[in-house]
Amino acid sequence: MILLGFLLFVTNCGIIFSQGGHFWHITDLHWDPDYKVTMNPNTVCPSSSKPVLNPGKWGSYLCDSNWDLINLTLHKMKTFHPKPDFILWTGDDTPHVADEKLGEDVVLRIISKLTKLIQAVFPGTKVYSAMGNHDFHPKNQLPGNYHKIYNRTAELWAPWMDHQSIAIFNQGAFYTEKLLGRTDQRIIVLNTNLYYSSNKCNVGINDPAGQFQWLEEVLSNAMTAKEKVYIIGHVPPGFFEKKRWTSWFVEHFNNRYVEIIQKYHSVIAGQFFGHHHTDSFRMFYSQSGSPIGVMFITPGITPWKTTLPGLENGANNPAIRVFEYDTNTLEVQDVVTYFFNLSYANAIAPLWQLEYRLTEAFKVPDGTVKSMQTVLDKLYHENDYLQKYYKLNSVNYDLAKCDMNCRIDQICAIKEVDFAKYEECVKRESSSSALTAQVPIISFLLLSIVLLQF
Ligand SMILES: *[C@@H]1O[C@H](CO)[C@@H](O)[C@H](O)[C@H]1NC(C)=O
Ligand SMILES: *[C@@H]1O[C@H](CO)[C@@H](O)[C@H](O)[C@H]1NC(C)=O
Ligand SMILES: *[C@@H]1O[C@H](CO)[C@@H](O)[C@H](O)[C@H]1NC(C)=O
Ligand SMILES: [Zn+2]
Ligand SMILES: [Zn+2]
Repeated sequence: MILLGFLLFVTNCGIIFSQGGHFWHITDLHWDPDYKVTMNPNTVCPSSSKPVLNPGKWGSYLCDSNWDLINLTLHKMKTFHPKPDFILWTGDDTPHVADEKLGEDVVLRIISKLTKLIQAVFPGTKVYSAMGNHDFHPKNQLPGNYHKIYNRTAELWAPWMDHQSIAIFNQGAFYTEKLLGRTDQRIIVLNTNLYYSSNKCNVGINDPAGQFQWLEEVLSNAMTAKEKVYIIGHVPPGFFEKKRWTSWFVEHFNNRYVEIIQKYHSVIAGQFFGHHHTDSFRMFYSQSGSPIGVMFITPGITPWKTTLPGLENGANNPAIRVFEYDTNTLEVQDVVTYFFNLSYANAIAPLWQLEYRLTEAFKVPDGTVKSMQTVLDKLYHENDYLQKYYKLNSVNYDLAKCDMNCRIDQICAIKEVDFAKYEECVKRESSSSALTAQVPIISFLLLSIVLLQF
């Protein structure tokens, strides 16, 4: 009896102690099949609206990814970490070109080609895959009901999904499964393109595809079953950190998303999204203001310079990311980002290299909610950290100083996913930085008064 008790104790300890696992997260591949290196700057790539000078073998900052870049990237992942527990892939496969140049068949062919590449390089690896706003024709118009593109996509991804997931996916491109079949862990793959303000299909609909209700049911059951959950999706709620007031979700969808995170945060161990092409994160707070959740926004593989009006120089270097996590609790232990210096690749040699490790760059013990709040506090209070973060935000592409306005945009986007709170944050931070700017003037006036008295 005593011996048996001892053995059980040992086994229990084995379950309690943290176990290190890792998974890849890739996003926004945006393959441009028509990219070519040519002397005519107007015919390099349809994904650029501007002439492309000096296109290189590995691509151009004005264009979406060419095949060489995507193929090399997948093979490099295999070299860095050949046996990930699983891979997260959060969408946007097609190039930024007009709808007329695509069509359902072209979109599906591109999704198919990338799916087959991933399956060929990582045979037998479980991939959890979410659709992006560019994985549809016409782009952004993903409906909240059955669609042929959902059906064909589910067929392509069927080796990664169980039967029930495929049936649900057909009706709205979302699904849930036990994470790797583990009893107390779950993954939820969302179709947040349904909430994108550029999506005209769901105007006036409270809960497209019933996804919110379904999500609440899944999370509520997860609570009862004491599961831990990862949520993945493409379009994130909240604001784009590079351009003030730029949000993606329709406001009532944004509110509902935040409410759900607040209600079920105790089972949600992480949220992993893309769409920005930049490297950032989002904090979620309880009604009383305690940090309760974090969403990691993984930078894209495409280097494509955004054409968002008013945004100068919005390109990035290609990036891929490994999450190190506790296989018992799903807690994020570290975030390791690799990058590809595109100008170096074209000029000298194609080199995928470590960009940074979260714990080293920001001197935090791990990637938990508490630690990410510490990172945010450091960005807020210490300019050196803000500058370091800003460089990483574009994956070492934009090396400019993050000035007062940039600081407000970045901090408020990270801190406030809620629309009203974001607005308050921008106003508060703008007036406090205006005050700081006025300090020299006020001092001068005071000094003048003092001097005049003499
Ligand atoms: C993809 O990359 C691998 C490894 O670098 C290489 O062997 C293969 O020829 C490439 N395939 C294509 C189609 O470029
Ligand atoms: C797609 O739809 C067809 C019928 O139109 C059906 O036979 C097939 O099973 C569906 N595929 C998936 C993956 O559900
Ligand atoms: C990227 O490569 C270019 C060209 O070789 C170089 O000037 C630049 O410093 C490199 N950037 C980084 C972050 O390594
Ligand atoms: Zn994208
Ligand atoms: Zn997108």
